[in-house]
Amino acid sequence: MRLTPQQIDRFDTEGYLFFPGLFTPEEVAELNAAVPALYARREAYNVREKGSEAVRTNFAAHLYSEPFARLARHPRMVEPVEALFGEKLYMHQFKINGKMAFEGDVWQWHQDYGTWKNDDLMPTERAMNVAIFLDDVNEYNGPLMFIPGSHRKGVIDARHDLTTTSYPLWTVDNALITQLVERAGGKAGGIVSPKGPAGSMILFHSCLVHASTSNLSPWNRVSVYLSLCAVSNHIRRFKRPEYIAHRDFTPIDCLTDDCLLARAPVDLPWAGGMPASALETSLTELGGNTA
Ligand code: SIN
Ligand code: MN
Repeated sequence: MRLTPQQIDRFDTEGYLFFPGLFTPEEVAELNAAVPALYARREAYNVREKGSEAVRTNFAAHLYSEPFARLARHPRMVEPVEALFGEKLYMHQFKINGKMAFEGDVWQWHQDYGTWKNDDLMPTERAMNVAIFLDDVNEYNGPLMFIPGSHRKGVIDARHDLTTTSYPLWTVDNALITQLVERAGGKAGGIVSPKGPAGSMILFHSCLVHASTSNLSPWNRVSVYLSLCAVSNHIRRFKRPEYIAHRDFTPIDCLTDDCLLARAPVDLPWAGGMPASALETSLTELGGNTA
C-alpha cells in the first residue's frame, strides 16, 4: 500500500493517518482467535493491569504466534512506512494491548519516542507506530486520543512515571498538555480520537502526543501496535528486556497481501519459549559507553 501525496501532506501536518476498515472481518477473526490463548500464558511478556488479572499488554507475539508473525510482515502495515522513511525497517516493539472491558486502565499523555530515546537510546525519531483495531473502537471503550500536530514540537520534556499504572512510561505534564491542546485548536479539534470498526488502521508519528482513558464499558478494546524503526536508527542500548525493545535489527521482508487468510508460512523463533537472554538488560551503550 502506497500513500498519496495528499496523505503524506496530511501526515506531516496532523501527525497521523486513519484508515477505517482496512482489514476485513475475516482477517481480523484470524488474529482475534489467537488472543485468548496468548493472554492466558503466565509469562513475563504478559503485563497485567495493576491489581487485576486482565492483560494490559502482551509483547512480542510476532515471535511465537503464527497469525501475529504474519501481521508483522503485512504489506498494508509495513510498506507505507518504508516508503515514508525511504529505508528498510525492523520491528522495535510489537504489542497487543488489551484495554479490556471494565478493567482496561489509562495510558497517560506521552510520546513514544520519549521512551525509546530515554530508555533505549534510539538516535532519532525515524520510527513509526502502526495500530490495528481487533475490536470496534467507540467513544466508550477508551479510544486513543491524539493532539494533532503535536509531533512538530519534537521531543518534549517528560517524567518517568513508575507508579500510576502497571507499566512505566515517560509522561508529559498537564500544563504542557493544556498548551499543546490550545495550540491545536482547543475545544475545536485540539484533541481527536479516531474511532471505527475492527480492522481499522492508524499510522502515527513517534513524537505525536497521545493517551487513552480507562475502559468502563462492557466492550473490550484489543488493538495491536507495531513500532517500526528505520534500520539505520536502531537502538543503542539494551536497558529494557528484549521482549519489550527488540535487538534483532534484520530488515522486515513483507509477505503477500493475502498472507493472513492464506496462512503463509512464517518462522517463530520463540515458539519453544523465550530465551533467557531476552530478560538480560544492560546500561552499556552499543560500542562502549556505560550510562
Ligand atoms: C500506547 O500508547 O502505547 C498505548 C495506548 C493505548 O493502547 O491506548
Ligand atoms: Mn504510546
